[in-house]
Amino acid sequence: MAENSRDLVDPWSEELLSTSGYERTGFAAGFDSNRPAPPPVLLDILCLAAQVDGPRLVVDLGSGTGLSTRPWADRAEQVIGVEASPEMRAQAEAATGADNVRFVQAYAQATGLPDGEADLVTCSQALHWMKPEPTFAEAARLLRPGGVFAAYDYDWPPVVNWEVEAAFEELLQRVRAGRAPDGRGMRYAKDGHLERIEASGHFRYAREVVFHARDRADAARIVGMALSLGPLTVRLHEGLSEEEAGLTALREAANRALGDHETEIFIGYRIRLGVK
Ligand SMILES: C[S@@+](CC[C@H](N)C(=O)[O-])C[C@H]1O[C@@H](n2cnc3c(N)ncnc32)[C@H](O)[C@@H]1O
Repeated sequence: MAENSRDLVDPWSEELLSTSGYERTGFAAGFDSNRPAPPPVLLDILCLAAQVDGPRLVVDLGSGTGLSTRPWADRAEQVIGVEASPEMRAQAEAATGADNVRFVQAYAQATGLPDGEADLVTCSQALHWMKPEPTFAEAARLLRPGGVFAAYDYDWPPVVNWEVEAAFEELLQRVRAGRAPDGRGMRYAKDGHLERIEASGHFRYAREVVFHARDRADAARIVGMALSLGPLTVRLHEGLSEEEAGLTALREAANRALGDHETEIFIGYRIRLGVK
């Protein structure tokens, strides 16, 4: 059963989520099937950063469908995913069997969890959605001294094949070009995460760590990755055609390059971390 802290509402996050497309039927399941889960090396890096073999508590902010939460089940004593979208949280609960993992429905800025108990507070592909200052303050409150806040993101598109990548880039540009002119739906740039973590004053040391993960994909997964982009599904729902969105071209390029043959792909990751 998820706990609920939605009475602690953040209007900016609320507005962003209401235009995210994450609530649409089938979106969470598609996201969970197609997005990457963090590889074991990420867990190794974060345990080293926090100077623990196995963390007692990991809190995963913006845990989505649990892709970034579940891998900790075998490493940590306890794992808590904090997620604001009921649909994403429901998918996470359905897809997670481990007894030491639970999900809280709350905003990252107001988790309702106790002070100073976490070795790690993670934020996977999610910090750009959150108001930085209250999120850093909450992460620092949850961490024990020496604990680590780690915001990490993967680069789009993955390394697959230049034609597929070019088509994916084109789709991303078309989706971005369709953003509301008044700035609604705009999120924080990921390349500013480290500077903002440093400037927050909550962390004694901050740095960026870059690495890559190996994964596998066929054409259907590449198209599924594109369809797991909330803004694309919103634009399609508003009436943009698959052709106009660049999805038809991506599907064709992926079919030419991969078809139903699953091949190795590489995913670039960037961790921006702060030590409390
Ligand atoms: C791109 S998904 C990443 C999900 C997951 N961490 C992963 O790596 O697959 C971002 C998630 O953050 C959630 N989110 C956005 N703003 C939030 C906030 N202020 N508090 C908690 N969750 C939030 C969204 O609902 C979404 O599920």
